[in-house]
Amino acid sequence: MSGRNLIIFLSISITLLLGTSAAPAQEQDTTGLPENVKANEECLSCHGNEYYSYFNRWLDRNVRDRMNPYYIIDSSKFYHSNHSTFKCIDCHSYEYDTFPHPGGLRLEPQYTCMDCHAWGEEWEKFNFETIQKEFQESVHYQEHNQSFDCWMCHEPHSYKLTARKSDTIKNIVAYNNSICLSCHSNTDKYQLIAEKENPNLIESHDWLPNQRLHFNNVRCLECHAKKVDTLMVAHNIRPKEEAVRKCAECHSRNSMLMASLYKYKSKQARQEYGFLNAIMMSESFVIGANRNQILNTISLVIFGLVILGIVIHTILRIIN
Ligand code: HEC
Ligand code: HEC
Ligand code: HEC
Ligand code: HEC
Ligand code: HEC
Ligand code: HEC
Ligand code: HEC
Repeated sequence: MSGRNLIIFLSISITLLLGTSAAPAQEQDTTGLPENVKANEECLSCHGNEYYSYFNRWLDRNVRDRMNPYYIIDSSKFYHSNHSTFKCIDCHSYEYDTFPHPGGLRLEPQYTCMDCHAWGEEWEKFNFETIQKEFQESVHYQEHNQSFDCWMCHEPHSYKLTARKSDTIKNIVAYNNSICLSCHSNTDKYQLIAEKENPNLIESHDWLPNQRLHFNNVRCLECHAKKVDTLMVAHNIRPKEEAVRKCAECHSRNSMLMASLYKYKSKQARQEYGFLNAIMMSESFVIGANRNQILNTISLVIFGLVILGIVIHTILRIIN
């Protein structure tokens, strides 16, 4: 091999070496990612943003266009949701990998929760069957069973267990109420279901003092759903005539909140503080419902001391 050939040989080898060592480095970027995240990248390259681009064969160039805002998926919410380990095409047809998407696909029926969750030990604790039964008795289903399904409240790309997992009552209330308000304070979504006008919640609840404070501290479900012992979250929403209106249902010693909203906390709180309404003492003060034994005793002692003082004072005056 001549000197010149040697140099060419060496430089080719070096390029090859660099090339092959560069290739695995590039792959390493994605090999760490879970299978579904890789698979979803293509869908999210369009559905993750307000703009998408595609190659238009008729114009023979790349075209940028706006994504329909209802079709934008928030990938961070998706990867924190219950179904975060899914590929998009676990629920949607694999044929969505072509663009433009075949028109007939939008007629495709969607899976229901029960298609996947009706069987299996790991789902038993949720009581899907009872939830379904309760939902079917609710005002939503009774009035609109053609269009009202579980996905209407459980947004498929963001639904996340909260009542069971969240550490604060405030988070639970905020998340749960945001589900109801996604329709009851949003006429566009409300009218996907019903023709009639969306009632104004502030007006229909004007009998309730401190409305905002209540909406931030209790769930709509508390007043509007029928309680079922076996369910963590009641699903039978009753017509407005049956809603809770009596203040004492909550503002009393055996507040119904103990059995519903605060049950998420009470067990842990009982262990920590030794009494059931500890949770209310630490996170909120519901007039009438809170009782603190120590405060009660202290006030009794003070009361007793005052009486004793008066008695001594009177005796001293009589003697004098
Ligand atoms: C090149 C961009 C692009 C890619 C990649 C893409 N989509 Fe779409 N998708 C769109 C646009 C734009 C729409 C709006 C309707 C239309 O124009 O077809 C849409 C609509 C949809 C719809 C709404 C219902 C319908 O049929 O109109 C679904 C569901 C959907 N895409 C799922 C997917 C899935 C799943 C993937 C990945 C396998 C994917 N898309 C990849 C651009 C894209
Ligand atoms: C757990 C099942 C599930 C997964 C996983 C899922 N989707 Fe969906 N998706 C649905 C359902 C159900 C609907 C219909 C919602 C409705 O009609 O209320 C839907 C609707 C859509 C729509 C139309 C928007 C709308 O509200 O009608 C788009 C776009 C979409 N999905 C894209 C995606 C993309 C992209 C991914 C992956 C990142 C994905 N989906 C993952 C179940 C799923
Ligand atoms: C295509 C099948 C499928 C559909 C449809 C589906 N799920 Fe799931 N779901 C699963 C699987 C599988 C998991 C477990 C995911 C994991 O652990 O990564 C899961 C997880 C969950 C969890 C979390 C369980 C836990 O212990 O963390 C809840 C809650 C849940 N799903 C509720 C629902 C609801 C409500 C619906 C309907 C609105 C629904 N699912 C629709 C298959 C499905
Ligand atoms: C009117 C709205 C609404 C509808 C409709 C609805 N849900 Fe729910 N669901 C909720 C709310 C709110 C929660 C509480 C979410 C949280 O904090 O985890 C919940 C929680 C759940 C949970 C978790 C319960 C637990 O033990 O932690 C499951 C499972 C569930 N729903 C299944 C369903 C199924 C199945 C359907 C349809 C048959 C359905 N839901 C319809 C509002 C709804
Ligand atoms: C997808 C939209 C949607 C969601 C989400 C939703 N609702 Fe509704 N709700 C409706 C519609 C539409 C009606 C009107 C039903 C009818 O035609 O009478 C209704 C009716 C009601 C009524 C009965 C009012 C009456 O006139 O008797 C109550 C109470 C109610 N919803 C409470 C809730 C609560 C609580 C939640 C959350 C757990 C919730 N809704 C979630 C759409 C929704
Ligand atoms: C303290 C109990 C309480 C709370 C909390 C509560 N509601 Fe109500 N709600 C009622 C009562 C009682 C009525 C019936 C008022 C009437 O008879 O006009 C009602 C009426 C309604 C109606 C029917 C309105 C109409 O004019 O037709 C809807 C819808 C509704 N509530 C939804 C909600 C939603 C969504 C939330 C959570 C953001 C919520 N409510 C929180 C007690 C409550
Ligand atoms: C569904 C349960 C529930 C019902 C029904 C209810 N409340 Fe409340 N109320 C609460 C909760 C929870 C708080 C907030 C406690 C906190 O500050 O964290 C609250 C707070 C209040 C406050 C404010 C206390 C403060 O600290 O400023 C007043 C006043 C009040 N409620 C009066 C009423 C009256 C009057 C009614 C009947 C018309 C009523 N509530 C019905 C649960 C309820």
